This record gives sequence, structure tokens and C-alpha cells, in this order.
Amino acid sequence: MKISLIGFMGSGKTSVGEILAKKLGYDMLEMDLEILKISDSDDINGIFASKGELHFRELEIKAAKKLVNKNNIVISTGGGVVMNKIILDYLHENNGSIIFLNTSFNEIQKRLEGDDSRPLFKDKLTAKALYNFRQALYEEYSDYTINTDGKNVVEIVDEILVLINS
Ligand code: S3P
Repeated sequence: MKISLIGFMGSGKTSVGEILAKKLGYDMLEMDLEILKISDSDDINGIFASKGELHFRELEIKAAKKLVNKNNIVISTGGGVVMNKIILDYLHENNGSIIFLNTSFNEIQKRLEGDDSRPLFKDKLTAKALYNFRQALYEEYSDYTINTDGKNVVEIVDEILVLINS
């Protein structure tokens, strides 16, 4: 099985993905790290600064294409994968399931306070507008939604396990 986690920056895709993969005995793969491998930068801010967001999105599409035939894997995606539907098509191929981790903006803001690793979360108002814009896309492109507010990582993973086993 191939399980992809989507959701806004700070929604917990990586922490949930790591534990989910461990419980399933799957590999865990982080798309941002795959993007860095095919870029000439060592961080995401660097790609945005030197080549711009469009270039980053092109790399993101390339990285997603490479994942089409993967199996027994949990994929933690970048929050912007919904900006290019083709990425979701790649993630869906080969019986892929897409799970949306839905976290309120208030909760996300608390988690990302003081974190400057994300080029698209530099100011709160712009990030909030992006969040509002993307919510419908996460809903539309996912097979399942998990509301994560007030839940710890293990509770979220257990909910996912119930979903995928049903
Ligand atoms: C982005 C989210 C980031 C990273 C890049 C762009 C976005 O990943 O891919 O900074 O557009 O939402 P995380 O969701 O893991 O922070």
C-alpha cells in the first residue's frame, strides 16, 4: 500500500508519517528531502530564494513522479502539493491512498511560531490567506480527512490505521 499524507505546513505530516510507517513496517519518505536530492540547494528556503517558487513546484512534480511505483511506503508531502493536481494523480496511482491532516490555522500558527524554515510562512496574514485558499483543495484531493486538533500523534496514527483497515 502507498499512503500519502497531505495538509498545510505544520499539520503534522512528518511526525504522523514516521510513527505510521513504523507501525505498518513501511518505509517513510519525505517529499521535501526528495526535492533537495534533485536540486542543487541544501535547503528549501535556498531553492525559493535562488530559483523561485515555480522552479520549486517543477521539482516537486518530478519528485512525485518518481514515487508512482513505490509500495509499502508512507509519504509525507509538502503543504503545496495541491497546487499541481498532477502530483495527486501520481500519488493516487497504484492504489495510493491520500489522507488529509486537517489542522486549524490557530493550532498551526502556535506550532510554527519562531520556525523560519518555511518560505511561505513568513508572515501570518499571507499564510492565513494561503491556508484558506488551500483548504478546499486538500478536501477535494484526499480520500480521507482526519481532524487533528486536540489529538496527539499516536491518536492520529491509530485513526488512520482504523481507516485503512476498514
Ligand atoms: C510548502 C510546504 C513545505 C515545503 C515548501 C512549500 C507549501 O513543506 O514543501 O516550503 O507550499 O506549503 P511542509 O508542508 O512540510 O512544511
